[in-house]
Amino acid sequence: MEQPRIMYYGEKVCLRALELSDLDDITEHWNTYETRRFLNSAIPNSRASESEWLEKAAKSRPWADGELVLAIEDKGTGDFLGTVSLFDISKQHRRAEFGIAIHNPENLGKGYGTDATTVMLWIAFHVLGLNGVYLYTLIHNERAQRAYEKAGFQRVGIFRQAMFSEGAYTDVLMMDVVRDDFLERYPPGSRTGS
Ligand SMILES: CC(C)(COP(=O)(O)OP(=O)(O)OC[C@H]1O[C@@H](n2cnc3c(N)ncnc32)[C@H](O)[C@@H]1OP(=O)(O)O)[C@@H](O)C(=O)NCCC(=O)NCCS
Repeated sequence: MEQPRIMYYGEKVCLRALELSDLDDITEHWNTYETRRFLNSAIPNSRASESEWLEKAAKSRPWADGELVLAIEDKGTGDFLGTVSLFDISKQHRRAEFGIAIHNPENLGKGYGTDATTVMLWIAFHVLGLNGVYLYTLIHNERAQRAYEKAGFQRVGIFRQAMFSEGAYTDVLMMDVVRDDFLERYPPGSRTGS
């Protein structure tokens, strides 16, 4: 019998385990400036380096490796949309950093990011039992900030000139969400979709 692939649903997306067979989908749009200009590095990545990353990410275990990376799929079509992750997971402080990228620019601004962020936070608080999740985002990445706020993140503070991006040392906004706040919206027993 075929194994069920999906455990977590939102309104528009499913989050599922990354598979080595996702390599073609990952490489298709990863070297796209419109997506990568908001991320830590906008240097082109080869298929070999993406393959190496995927080998590691597909096996990452939250407590042993401090990282969980999941694939984002369109709930209706099953199309691969991107990845969402929790990393630097601290066993001591029960918190983790959050990261997300929807790869194809045509899929930006369609609600996928808000939904995937909400589902990943649900996993962070309901499955992993974390107490807090935080992130850093370029100060001008307003689309991301809007999506994060809709999913439950709050603005915490600004690191001045913390990232070199598009020719300038640019301020970075830190945002976070704590368990108590998220559970007000999604109490124990609730789900984010079906
Ligand atoms: C950040 C990201 C995950 C957000 O996901 P998304 O699916 O694009 O965002 P959503 O459609 O869920 O929400 C975006 C919100 O911002 C608004 N928005 C869209 N473009 C905007 C812009 N240029 N400026 C301000 N707001 C914008 C949308 O209207 C929407 O708000 P609304 O629902 O109140 O109308 C996605 O854009 C992405 O992967 N971007 C490239 C990589 C990246 O920036 N990663 C995050 C690094 S910190």
